[in-house]
Amino acid sequence: MTYNGMSLNRSVCLILVLSLVHVLLWWNLSWSQTPREENEQTARYLTMLLKAGRLVVDQNQALINDPGKGDKGFTPESFEQQVVDEFFRLTSIDLRHPPAQLPGRAKELLPILLESGTQVVADAQFVINQRGIGYKNFIPATFGSQAARKFSNRSQVKIKQTTLNPRNLKNTPDAYEELVLKRLALQPASTNPVAEWVDGGKTLRVLTPIYYSQDCLDCHGSPQGVLDISGYPREGAKEGDLAGAISVQIPAAIP
Ligand code: HEC
Repeated sequence: MTYNGMSLNRSVCLILVLSLVHVLLWWNLSWSQTPREENEQTARYLTMLLKAGRLVVDQNQALINDPGKGDKGFTPESFEQQVVDEFFRLTSIDLRHPPAQLPGRAKELLPILLESGTQVVADAQFVINQRGIGYKNFIPATFGSQAARKFSNRSQVKIKQTTLNPRNLKNTPDAYEELVLKRLALQPASTNPVAEWVDGGKTLRVLTPIYYSQDCLDCHGSPQGVLDISGYPREGAKEGDLAGAISVQIPAAIP
């Protein structure tokens, strides 16, 4: 009798311990992300950091284009500070003190993209600080193309601004991007990124659509075909039309 009672107690104990272990494991797993989720999150943060850089250039456009001013004070340091602030506003992540739960890949890549953007601003100092010239072709799009290219040259991860009929041929979509852009152009506007694993799960592709707002139309709007201030023919776009996308490509494993 006593023996049987003990055995029952032990079994109950064992079951309790096992379920506790199970709950703890489940708890732990649901807290840490899978590598797939980490890569998807990394792509989203890279896109937001490039957007933050474009936004900062946009916010300083009047200063940059001021023909009456020589030294603009739009230095690489000031740019970097403003981008870090803007990224914090967008994501609540402070790049100067990245939180522990930020995916390892994002921790490694975000500083490289930030540095690439800062380098673009550093390289443009001579142009930016010219007096007597208004439009200098230092605008969010040129900044974005250059920062994305610098970053992509330094990393296995690729980022790019692209659209179906690009002004800058270096922004020409590849076959996958063309397919997704054509699909996006037919759908109602949505800021949701399109994220897909391709090549049998070997590569993550993420395209985040961008739409034209009123202030883009000075250059991209009407009259179609007539040159804008940057010297390109206007696209004849309307407010709300798909302007293109920010495209990120991440290999599942770095060889
Ligand atoms: C001052 C004129 C001007 C304004 C305003 C402007 N763009 Fe552009 N845009 C350009 C130029 C010039 C390029 C080519 C950049 C390059 O050389 O990479 C470009 C390129 C782009 C590209 C990359 C694809 C390509 O054609 O090479 C996108 C996407 C884009 N613009 C969207 C926008 C959006 C969205 C806005 C408004 C938020 C905007 N642009 C405002 C001049 C402008």
